[in-house]
Amino acid sequence: MIVCHCKVVTDRAVGESIERGACTLGQVCRDTGAGQDCGGCVFSLKRVLVEHEGKAPLQPATTAAAS
Ligand code: FES
Repeated sequence: MIVCHCKVVTDRAVGESIERGACTLGQVCRDTGAGQDCGGCVFSLKRVLVEHEGKAPLQPATTAAAS
């Protein structure tokens, strides 16, 4: 689904940006180009950000070396 019609940015592209490390609206906008024209997509971008909160890939378990 297109979330930014001015720059033709999809929710998938926003999600991929978040998965690459973008964690603020500004970072997502800079990374994808969304939200930099009319600004009408800002709330949709925020919604995608919120939806991705807590969905970050799990870090691999670390094992402490027994001594
Ligand atoms: S719809 Fe995203 S900047 Fe206009």
